[in-house]
Amino acid sequence: MRIVITGNMGYVGPVVAAHFRECFPDAELIGFDSALFAQCLTTPDAFPERVLDRQVFGDVREFPADLLTNTDAVVHLAALSNDPIGVRFEKQTDEINNIASIRIAAAAAKAGVSSFVFASSCSVYGMAEGGPRKESDTLLPLTAYAKSKIATEQGLKQLAAPSMTITCLRFATACGQAPRLRLDLVLNDFVATALATGQINVLSDGSPWRPLIDVEDMARAMEWAATRRGANGDRFLAINAGRDDHNYQVVDLAEAVADAIPGTTVSINRDALPDLRSYRVDFGLFAKTAPDHQPQVSLSRSIERLIEGLNAAVQDHHQVLPSRTKRLAVLEKLIDTGRISDDVRWLN
Ligand SMILES: NC(=O)c1ccc[n+]([C@@H]2O[C@H](COP(=O)([O-])OP(=O)(O)OC[C@H]3O[C@@H](n4cnc5c(N)ncnc54)[C@H](O)[C@@H]3O)[C@@H](O)[C@H]2O)c1
Repeated sequence: MRIVITGNMGYVGPVVAAHFRECFPDAELIGFDSALFAQCLTTPDAFPERVLDRQVFGDVREFPADLLTNTDAVVHLAALSNDPIGVRFEKQTDEINNIASIRIAAAAAKAGVSSFVFASSCSVYGMAEGGPRKESDTLLPLTAYAKSKIATEQGLKQLAAPSMTITCLRFATACGQAPRLRLDLVLNDFVATALATGQINVLSDGSPWRPLIDVEDMARAMEWAATRRGANGDRFLAINAGRDDHNYQVVDLAEAVADAIPGTTVSINRDALPDLRSYRVDFGLFAKTAPDHQPQVSLSRSIERLIEGLNAAVQDHHQVLPSRTKRLAVLEKLIDTGRISDDVRWLN
């Protein structure tokens, strides 16, 4: 079996690669990434890409279709991945996240790939008052990032790919320990800030809902999606990936972190304007469809592993630099130092 994982050198990718290596010891695993964040390792452990058989460097906007020959599954993670980046790089967010994704999926279908897994996001629900969102509910994307994910889902649905199973996993917000840790994610940020300052300042009134999923559980969901055999009209599936009891309000997350790190104080901004990005998500379909691949990592375990990971990464928690752990800051630095263009392409 040959599996191509795009965007494998970011936050989620190394955890997916390690999980796939464990589940499919004999598979040929190929990574494809433009290496924007390759230098952002936050673990003193071994280089995460060592579990792959091959690492290919390139831009998904010029994806080499011949990489798909004899490939069984494509796990497509490559993206400009978060809301602030979507504001700064709106055009590129569409080109990379949407247009390139459809092109790669079309090439995969043509090459006879059996499974295409797309990392979508629950942010497609935007502001969603009135109960947990199901897959069939109205979508209300508020950002360029969320819009790019919906556009890709729609393009994938329309693709003429009669023998390729396509799964769009609408992931909850990611959290948890990984070799290239991100601190622009709510739980990870709270843990790092609490360790560095003993204080968590919640910028909102703490009420917004965020479903969370640990990166290890994202990998489990992708394993399911890469191996499921679509039949009976469900060759294309867009499905929420997470679990019902992992819908949290931001204040609950801050308090869970404060409980785990003694001495941490939590302050809430009671005067904040309402945060529009609030949604609860119904993961019932995922529970029914993928019963053996349900999220297993509890919130307290994610926090515990983040603390362990950050303690191993740095001696002084003030040393956790944004230029290594916050995606927009990494890209801005690469532009400022003349390494990448405004179009997010390598210059040298
Ligand atoms: N982190 C989350 O909360 C979350 C939630 C839901 C879905 N997702 C999705 O999961 C996927 C992985 O997320 P992540 O957190 O690891 O993101 P990330 O930003 O850490 O990693 C993305 C990877 O894609 C690569 N990439 C970006 N542009 C590229 C290009 N033009 N050509 C080739 N490679 C390119 C980057 O170099 C990076 O290694 C993304 O599609 C993201 O949208 C993430």
